[in-house]
Formats: sequence, C-alpha cells, structure tokens
Amino acid sequence: MSSTRESLHGLWSSRWVFILAAAGSAVGLGNIWRFPYLTGENGGGAFVLIYLGFVLLIGIPLMVAETIIGRRGRRSPVNAILLIAEEESLSRHWSGLGLMGIIAGFLTLSFYSVVAGWSLAYVYFVLTSSFATANSISSEAIFTNLISSPLQLLFWHTLFMGSVIWIVSKGVSLGLERAVKILMPLLFVMLVLMTIYSLLVGDALGATKYLFATDFSSLTSDVILLAVGQAFFSLSLGMGALMIYGSYLPHDASIPRTCLIVGCVDTLVALLAGFLIFPIVFAYGLEAGQGPGLVFVTLTVAFADMPFGQVFGFTFFLLLTVAAWTSAISLLEPVVAWSVESKGWSRNSSSWLAGSVIWLIGILCLLSFNELKDFTPGGRNIFDWSEYISANVLLPLGGFLVAVFVGWRVSRMTIASEFGGNSSKLFSSWLFLLKYCAPIAVAIVFLNSSGLDLLFR
Ligand code: PFF
Repeated sequence: MSSTRESLHGLWSSRWVFILAAAGSAVGLGNIWRFPYLTGENGGGAFVLIYLGFVLLIGIPLMVAETIIGRRGRRSPVNAILLIAEEESLSRHWSGLGLMGIIAGFLTLSFYSVVAGWSLAYVYFVLTSSFATANSISSEAIFTNLISSPLQLLFWHTLFMGSVIWIVSKGVSLGLERAVKILMPLLFVMLVLMTIYSLLVGDALGATKYLFATDFSSLTSDVILLAVGQAFFSLSLGMGALMIYGSYLPHDASIPRTCLIVGCVDTLVALLAGFLIFPIVFAYGLEAGQGPGLVFVTLTVAFADMPFGQVFGFTFFLLLTVAAWTSAISLLEPVVAWSVESKGWSRNSSSWLAGSVIWLIGILCLLSFNELKDFTPGGRNIFDWSEYISANVLLPLGGFLVAVFVGWRVSRMTIASEFGGNSSKLFSSWLFLLKYCAPIAVAIVFLNSSGLDLLFR
C-alpha cells in the first residue's frame, strides 16, 4: 500500500493527468532544440545509441525512484526527503539533495527561459514574415541580430518567464492541470504532422542514416558525459521536477507503468524531432553540427523556401514554445511548493519571488550573447556555464544521490509499497538497475570526463 499522507497542494485528477504533466515536463527544448544540435555536433548515430542506452537502463529507473520519493513524502522535494529520512531514521542531511535540485532548477530555468524567448521571438518573426525571403546568409543575420540585442532578448525572456510564473501561481488544478491537458495533446498532434511533412519533402534517407549509422570513432568520454547529461536533462531528472509531480499522483496509480509511458513518450519525441529536423537540414545542404543555433538558423532557410513555409514555420516555433513552457512550469514548481510549505508564504508571492530571482539570473545569461560576450572564464560564457553545470554536473550528481538514497538507504518495504509488490521480476530488475547500474555508470562517466575537472577547478 502506498503512503496515505496527503499533499498540501492538491492532487492530479487522474494518473493520465500525471502522465501528461510529467511528459510535459520531459518533452521540451531538450528534445527539440538540444537533442538535434548535440547529435549534430557529436557525430550522429553513436551519440544517439549511447543516449538511448542511458535512457533505458538508468533514466527510466531513476524516474521511478524520484516519483517514489515524491509520492511517499507528498511534499516538495526537500521536505519529502526530510520526512522519509525521519521515518527511516536516516540522516537529515539527505534533504540537501532536494536543495541541490532547487539550485539546479534555478540555473536551468534561467538559461532555459532565454532560449524559450528565442523561440517566442521566432513565432513573431514568422507572423510578421520577416524571413519570408531568408537564405542561409540572411537567416544567420536574423539570429545574430536577435541574440546581439539585449533589449529584444530581455523582452522575450520577460514575456516567457512572466507567463510561467502566472501559471504556477494558479496552483495544481487551476494552473498546471489545465495547462497540460490542453497543451500536450496539441503538441503531439503538431509534432507528428510536421514530422510526416518533413519526411515527405526532405531527405528522409539521409536523416535515417545520420541518426542510426554508428561510427564509434567519434565517441570520447566527454561525448559519453554529454549523452548521460542529455538523458537526464531530457527526462527532467535530478532536479526534483518528477518528485514534485509524483507528490500529486493519486495513491492507486502504478508508478512503474506511468514512468515507462513518460520515458517512452519523451524518447519518441526526441527521435521525432530528429526526423523532423535532419531531413530538412540534409535536403537543403545545411550544416548539421553548427550548435545551439541549429533549429533557429537552419530551419528558417527551409521554411522560407518550402510551400506553406510560413504555416510550417509558425507551427514549428509555436510547438517549441509550448514544449518549453510545460517544462519550465515543472522547473519552477518545486521551489514554489517548498517555500509555501516551509516559509508559509502564499503560492502567489512564492511564485513571483522565486520567478523574479530566476529572471534576474536569466538576464546574465542573455547578456552572454552581447554585452558580456567576452566574459568567458574557463573558456565558457555565463550561458554556456549554466547549461554545462546544470546538465553535466548537477543533474548526474543529483541522479547518483537519488539512486543511492532510494536504492541503498530507504527500506525495501517502503519502496516496494510505493512500487507495488516486491516479489515481481520487474521490481527486482528495477532495483538492480537502480542500486548498481545507475550509480556505477554515472560515477564512471563522471570521473572519466571534464565533469570532474570542473569540481576541482
Ligand atoms: N526535460 C526538459 C527538456 O527536455 O527540455 C528540461 C527539464 C525540465 C529539465 C525540468 C529538468 C527539469 F526538472
């Protein structure tokens, strides 16, 4: 039997809403912007294969573990871990894991909102048809123009953060549930239609070869770290997003089944995004490995050239913005829930306060493309550092600690009661992956790569 403790913030009305919300958190810029550009920069198929392996063997088991913590504790990540630690007579210091998640969430949302702002800007650009005649030179200029203007970036970043704060301030059923119920189905329909279109008009064969032909010569320990980081980032692991969403999950929902669905949906969307973007990249002879500008610079050229390009472009950037929005909501929710519980502030004040701090850090990130362009301590600007530290350091570290906490410290009886039965093959296989594979794999990858230099720099 799962715990009978009640959530202070309400519950999802059904397990399907949890699936939509968790999928909304998982599916975001990570799938549609970051996965294609990392694949392009790191040689295609081999990166994709390693990423898929991490999702299946480590990511999904960790999703289950995070959801178990959330539903058992029925509180924000910090307090849920604290309650479980007390119940199990473990050290209170474990709650530091929740605090680390809050820091990671702040850092992630600050750069995430800047990129989501680019996407919002592009929705506007398509509508005002400023790139109806774009070619590869002018599309580069549109992007460079945008990122070199602090005021434009600030405007879009503020609009995006404001809308995220507003939804979170409305609470679980009025804000989050209503948003995901409308937006997620819309997102899937748009994505599938666009991928079919892209496969029909683009170079489907070239894209398939690129995504699945494996050339292991390009695999270095840093590329493997990037693949782990991407698996964690894409599944929203290590930051408490799934813990908080799990804390609103009804008692009778099966955690393994729901997490498996969410993990599969997230992976499917990343692959669909690959099949949406690369056929166009190859058909138009664009550069696959050009980095963070990939979807913005390259696709603009294609949209300008193709029939119904304006409709296609508008739908694409709207899709990207919606996906980013449902993920950003889940990044803000843990800290808001925590301050409502621990500081006694209202949800409204907590949302605006935490959101404003993130908005301020976001300003530093957006200035890295213009005023602070030359401020590159350690070879990275502030934006790159935020992205690198959150995805490649804090998330894997958070995942490692979740695996140790749930796999080794919390009693088998507690986890089995949330998982639903402790004798099944499924439970034993999951526990094996969580106790041994996840911590060992993350530790090896981390020790072998620049994640470690970063800690001791
Ligand atoms: N999973 C989101 C994406 O792929 O864009 C990003 C994210 C959301 C990461 C929430 C972490 C998180 F807690």
